[in-house]
Amino acid sequence: MAKRGIDLIEISGGSYENPKMMGNGQGATFIEYARMAKQTVNTPIVVTGGFRTEEGIEAALSNGDTDLIGLARPLILQPDLPEKLINGQMQPIKLRHFSTGWSWLDHPVGSLIGLAYYEQQMARLANGKPIKQPRTAWPILLKTVEEQGLQALIPRRG
Ligand SMILES: Cc1cc2nc3c(=O)[nH]c(=O)nc-3n(C[C@H](O)[C@H](O)[C@H](O)COP(=O)(O)O)c2cc1C
Repeated sequence: MAKRGIDLIEISGGSYENPKMMGNGQGATFIEYARMAKQTVNTPIVVTGGFRTEEGIEAALSNGDTDLIGLARPLILQPDLPEKLINGQMQPIKLRHFSTGWSWLDHPVGSLIGLAYYEQQMARLANGKPIKQPRTAWPILLKTVEEQGLQALIPRRG
């Protein structure tokens, strides 16, 4: 990609069946890989995934492990996060885990709930509404089925 003159390489990972990028992020998940990539190419590198604290972001940038950092879910919860970060007012971000109350059900639908929650909140933000913080996974699941039908609950392959 570097040889083809691409402007920026973003490092994240996983798939929707095994979404490693959706981990709860104790430190940045892909920083090791970025460090290796940076030794190989001059193209600017951005690491996305797992940045939750100002200290973590500062460390990744000042160590030179990555040129830029990407924020996904924290930015959905707090769209003004970059401003807070610049003003030194960023509080550590904790991502919620939504449970159906049944662990046998949480297991197969866990990654679906994780994605669906943030998709639904992005739609709310786009419509000028504040994000919702449900107590359980049920409102998220019901909205998903309402919008996409029961097939949304069948794990996707590939
Ligand atoms: C609702 C949602 C949709 C996403 N869609 C994509 C996608 O289409 N392609 C992709 O490469 N990553 C996608 N991601 C992954 C994010 O880009 C990012 O790598 C991941 O959430 C880890 O960053 P975070 O810990 O800051 O959330 C998605 C994440 C969420 C929450």
